[in-house]
Parts: sequence; structure tokens; C-alpha cells
Amino acid sequence: MDTPHAVDNRLHISCPVAVLPRFREDVIAGLSAARKSLPPRYFYDQYGSELFEQICQQPEYYPTRTEAVLLRQRAAELLDLVGACSLVELGSGSSVKTRLLLDEYQRRDSPMHYVPIDISASMLEESARGLIADYPRLSVHGLATDYLSGLAALPPARQRLVLFLGSNLGNFNDGEQAELFGRLATALQPQDYFLLGLDLRKSIPILEAAYNDVAGVTAAFNLNMLRRINREFGANFNLSQFRHLAFYNRDQHQIEMHLQSQLAQEVEIAELGLRVFFAPQETIHTEISRKFDARQVAAQLRPFGFEPCARWTDERAWFLLHLFRFVGR
Ligand code: TRP
Repeated sequence: MDTPHAVDNRLHISCPVAVLPRFREDVIAGLSAARKSLPPRYFYDQYGSELFEQICQQPEYYPTRTEAVLLRQRAAELLDLVGACSLVELGSGSSVKTRLLLDEYQRRDSPMHYVPIDISASMLEESARGLIADYPRLSVHGLATDYLSGLAALPPARQRLVLFLGSNLGNFNDGEQAELFGRLATALQPQDYFLLGLDLRKSIPILEAAYNDVAGVTAAFNLNMLRRINREFGANFNLSQFRHLAFYNRDQHQIEMHLQSQLAQEVEIAELGLRVFFAPQETIHTEISRKFDARQVAAQLRPFGFEPCARWTDERAWFLLHLFRFVGR
């Protein structure tokens, strides 16, 4: 399915692959398994995407702020290195941080091309319209889909800078990470660039607080997955009988997020013909957020043809912007 809409000659949005049919299969598989889980990409319906923007503004959630400061400080240096690239972004969301790079291109009076990839079509369209209005030399080709389908549908470009910010890489396990790096290598051309924003390992209370904000926004975000399943598949999850759980797993160096059933209960998902039994305290695993060791990531990228070319961190070394050059495989 390819459905271009939103015509303005500088704005084009398409959905190369519909994501929803897979949601159905993923819910059935995830909730039928012995250890229940749901893939994090389904957090981001319209309301979920809005909640995520609020998470980014919580005082405990330092990654967004720290990364934004780094991008602002380093934008000129970065663009001196990479030159006039077409920007591709995996999981662009509100594109607020991307603006820091667009501002620098604008200062240089450079034409700009931006390819945001985001699973939330409403968020993608809203932020793309805002960008078009604010940057007269910008054209946008948005792809409303998941990362892998987006990468397979990139419009041609002379040279690209792919942005993967917000430590979103941390939401992938090792196998998913390798698959992503492989698809990225297939989509890119030698001399393209890859900028990764990575949340680094640090003291556990700081990490755990970031995923347990006092205002309860992250809890609402996590629970919204169940609300979405209620709405889209006629399920009867009672949200007050599940609790948000987020903790650091030291052995795996990752935050784990779960939805925990507070009692024994059975949930019916009418449109999927599914009954799901929960034991007391049983959880649905909804996300991991791995915390990185910079050298390890560089070593994992090298076999895919990515060579490190610059790294920037904040004074507390909490977050890292790591730039790679793709040299081909
Ligand atoms: N990439 C973000 C992270 O891992 C995503 C994120 C932050 C997130 N907070 C969350 C995802 C809470 C789900 C729930 O930090």
C-alpha cells in the first residue's frame, strides 16, 4: 500500500507498509506465550505519542534534555564534518531535536531534505507540517511506518545522514539490533553517515527514576498499551488492575518495563477470539531500554561497515552522540 497525501510541493507523506495487520498477530503471539510480552512499537498510537512527548519533559527523564544540549553545542561541528546531507530519522516523533540541526543548515543557507520515519502517522504529519512552515528551504518526505519498512523505502539521495536519537537503539535486543544494522547497511551508500544517540551506564537510582517519574506519565504511557488493545480489539483489560513496573537489570545493563497484574484474572480479547489468564503478580514485558558502553556499540557496528568518526558527550558522561561513516561492506 502506498498512499501519498498531504500535498504541498515541499511535503510528501507515504505509508509504504501498513503496520496494523502485524499488531493483531503480535498481540496474539505475545499474550499466548509462557512469558507474556508486547512489542514497544505499539505504544505509539496518537495518545501514546503525546504521552511520550510529556515523558521527555519530566524532570527525572534526563536523556532528551542531555541529548538536546549536545546537539545544540555540536551542530556546527557535526555539519562541518558531514556537509550537505539528506537527513533520515528513525523514530522522528515531534522532530524537536532535529530542528537543532535544521537551524544550523538554515544558518548556512543550505537547501535541506528530511526523511522522517515514524510509526505514528498523526505525529509525523503534524510535525512535518510545522517544519515546512518554519524552514523555507526544507522539503520533507515522511514515511509513516516502522523502522525496517521505512529503511526499505528510502527516497534516493546523493548523501545521507541517518539519525537514530533518544537512545532508541536501546529498545532493541541483540538480534533486533543486528537485523537493524544489516538493513541499514543495505539501504545506505558508501560515505553516508549514521548518528547514534546513546544513553550510557550510570548509577542505578538515576536510571530507575527516569522510568518512574513522580507525575506518573511513564506509568500512563505503559498502561496505554492495554487501553489501545481494548479499543482496537474489543478487549476488556481493567487498567486499574495492572501496575507499571520499571527496574534496572544489572546483569543485562537494561531497564525493563512491565505491566503487572495485581490479582488472578482473565481478560477477553473479543475480536481476536482470545482469553488470557493472568496469575497474581504475573507481568507482560513491554520494553527494554539498554544502557550502553560506547566501545561495545562501535565494535558491533564495525562488521556492518560502519566506522566511528566522532563522539561527543556531556560533562557528566551520561549521554553520547556517536557519529559513524558507512564505508560499505
Ligand atoms: N528510547 C526511550 C528510552 O528507552 C524510550 C522510552 C523512554 C520509553 N521512556 C519510556 C519507552 C517509557 C517506553 C516507556 O529511554
